[in-house]
Amino acid sequence: MSEQNILEVRNLTKHFKAGGKQVVHAVDGVNLTLKKGRTLGLVGESGCGKSSCARTIIRMYDPTSGEIFLDGEDITKLSQKQLKPYRKKMQMIFQDPYSSLNARMTVRDIIAEPLVAHGIVKKKEQSNDLVYPMLERVGLTKEHANRYAHEFSGGQRQRVGIARALILQPDLVICDEPISALDVSIQAQVINLLKDFQDEKGVSYLFIAHDLSMVRYVSDDVGVMYLGQLVEVSDAGEIYRNPLHPYTKGLLGSIPVANPKLARQKEKSSIEGDIPSPINPPSGCRFHTRCPYATQACSEAVPQMKDVGSGHMVACHLY
Ligand SMILES: Nc1ncnc2c1ncn2[C@@H]1O[C@H](COP(=O)(O)OP(=O)(O)OP(=O)(O)O)[C@@H](O)[C@H]1O
Ligand SMILES: [Mg+2]
Repeated sequence: MSEQNILEVRNLTKHFKAGGKQVVHAVDGVNLTLKKGRTLGLVGESGCGKSSCARTIIRMYDPTSGEIFLDGEDITKLSQKQLKPYRKKMQMIFQDPYSSLNARMTVRDIIAEPLVAHGIVKKKEQSNDLVYPMLERVGLTKEHANRYAHEFSGGQRQRVGIARALILQPDLVICDEPISALDVSIQAQVINLLKDFQDEKGVSYLFIAHDLSMVRYVSDDVGVMYLGQLVEVSDAGEIYRNPLHPYTKGLLGSIPVANPKLARQKEKSSIEGDIPSPINPPSGCRFHTRCPYATQACSEAVPQMKDVGSGHMVACHLY
């Protein structure tokens, strides 16, 4: 455990019961390290376990097994009551700004709620000195404070969600697809807002997205997840220059490219088929059923994470 790390996740596993004896292997043995003031991107197809991982880290869910260290402290087994001081340090921004904000509360009350919960102000009505500057900071105005969340556009709501997450000055913010539900024209503004906060306050982000293009400009490091497991982790620049895992290559192939010649080359590496069920994940390497390079060994043995040089980690029998 290094002092430089705001978050360390070891062998994190989250299984859900799915009726009868069936078990959903949503997260299976994930290891993550996030340095202070940095951004770790986490990508993978829908259903690969990104949100389950995020919600387990922030202890909305109890982990099935594994360990979570927040700023050096083991928070894996703390009760919800014991977690309270740590909640101030870690906040979450949700994918859907429509369902994640209470439409019947005023914007001021939404942002003030965590201030009251943590005893920073006694009543929401006393929070304006803190809430107004935060509204301005996220590109809204104090005139917005007395309006209701349902009166706002998606982009504005996400700004409220960000203000709420940042009002306690957390050290770690887990951003679960914070821009996926927004218009493309708004996405860059929200990303820039998050980046500016990082430059000012040194906040760390775990930034979740579907595809690699979205995390490209925000991440220092990137982890690629497939069916509950990490398959590749590396410095962000390196993973785009030199993707190793066939799944990562496939994800990069699914990024639209402007140059038609390049697009044709990339198309070859796009991934075929759908993600298998996490109830009965494939044996060996979970990706073998869709991998163009799979050999018999891939269906038999689970590939271990290997460092192939300067911290570029990959779990694949090809390496
Ligand atoms: N509370 C739950 N109970 C049972 N199964 C769940 C629960 N939450 C998630 N799952 C299952 O766990 C798997 C991973 O889901 P998760 O939402 O973590 O994926 P995701 O990568 O965030 O997907 P998306 O990109 O669509 O948000 C899915 O098969 C999902 O159906
Ligand atoms: Mg999700």
